[in-house]
Amino acid sequence: MSQKSHSHAQWSSRLAFTLAAVGSAVGLGNIWKFPYMVGQSGGAAFVLVYLVCIALIGLPILMSEWLLGRLGQKNPIATMSEISRRLKRSKAWTLVGVGGVLGAYLILSFYSVIGGWALIYTGYSASGIFTDLTSDSVGNLFSGLLASPGTLLLWHSVFMILTIAVVMGGVAGGLERAAKTLMPALGILLVVLVIYAATTPGFAAGVNYLFNPDWSKLNGEVVLAAMGHAFFTLSLGMGIMMAYGSYLSDDVNIGRTALTVVVMDTVIALLAGMAIFPIVFSNGLDAASGPGLIFQTLPLAFGHMTGGSVFGVLFFLLLVFAAWTSAISLLEPIVEWLEERSSLNRVGATLVAGLAVWLLGVASVLSFNLWSGVAPLGIFAHFAGMTVFDLLDYVTSKVMLPLTGLAAVIFVAWKMGRDEVRSQLNMSDGAFSLWHFIARFIAPLGVLAVFVSGLWI
Ligand code: TRP
Repeated sequence: MSQKSHSHAQWSSRLAFTLAAVGSAVGLGNIWKFPYMVGQSGGAAFVLVYLVCIALIGLPILMSEWLLGRLGQKNPIATMSEISRRLKRSKAWTLVGVGGVLGAYLILSFYSVIGGWALIYTGYSASGIFTDLTSDSVGNLFSGLLASPGTLLLWHSVFMILTIAVVMGGVAGGLERAAKTLMPALGILLVVLVIYAATTPGFAAGVNYLFNPDWSKLNGEVVLAAMGHAFFTLSLGMGIMMAYGSYLSDDVNIGRTALTVVVMDTVIALLAGMAIFPIVFSNGLDAASGPGLIFQTLPLAFGHMTGGSVFGVLFFLLLVFAAWTSAISLLEPIVEWLEERSSLNRVGATLVAGLAVWLLGVASVLSFNLWSGVAPLGIFAHFAGMTVFDLLDYVTSKVMLPLTGLAAVIFVAWKMGRDEVRSQLNMSDGAFSLWHFIARFIAPLGVLAVFVSGLWI
């Protein structure tokens, strides 16, 4: 996504577009967040609900966002207001775009803090401290890190500077070309980790935990978490995919490309799960330990496998890279919006937006130490014990992403003419009818049902 806004160039090819979309989708959500959510939700039941949400909600919404972006040819807010004006729909649809910018801001603030953890762990693996670590010392290493706000702040800042640098210079296109080799490399390293995991005694238990559901673990909250994560991992609901869609040329087949992105994203997440849970069970660790899960498990693998320090450095570097391309896709829409709304130029807008994100990130840094006992909405039973970090995650993944995504799919399926949508998707009659049915009924009702069950029951 290099030089954009004004000239509004188009992607050179379907490959470039797919890479950009995968770069946004594949990130910490797949490797850091997915496994710990599985662990907190009790395993395979969550995974299966997640897969269903990806297929029946995520995929149609991803296609809807691309389609809207391609029709509108502008940033998400302008796209929504223009398409609604053209189709004589309410101006309130513009809110979908506004919600997107705000959501991207909130997500990036904590995303960058975790990106900082990945940077720190790259350094840890290079220093060789993982060699022959025990599970206790891995745990101590991580809790020691969380207890040092200064270190967390430093690396959160470094991660933000990296992100700002790319967005400011508009060189994201170069990163996407790099993604062509680095994403497959990440996949290969995950396979290496899964192979290592297969040699540990807990492999069967780990795979079983991931794929053999214990339905008693299922409740409204787990379903809401699974759906929210489907939005998060596909970068949906924030208008980001809509913005990407605005650069999409007419001959790209939206359905096929969306399927490619969804499959790659899902495979990466499942591989991460298959690498991590066997290690959890082999070492008697707690699957439900939360956001530190990968940082408390993978070092054990790198500490014990042959060539572990090389693999360790490579793995965490690739994780940083994956997080970086996603972070860029989160900062970009905020900067574009600011550029358009103020007299700032690109450099100024990037600096202001980056600083604002960084500042809110400080609250997440403190959530893990000095403010770990601070629960801003603690007076409501539903939010008891949730730190600022927990709340930011909750509000974005479980409320904002599904709501804005829901609006996008309702708009496409109910407010646009069937023929206009049809002409954008060039699918066979049967496939289109099925798609339209899912987009009209299954996806919106699914989101609503999950909301009701997760928030009120
Ligand atoms: N999908 C990314 C991940 O899984 C995170 C991300 C990037 C994102 N852009 C987004 C999430 C936009 C929601 C909306 O790591």
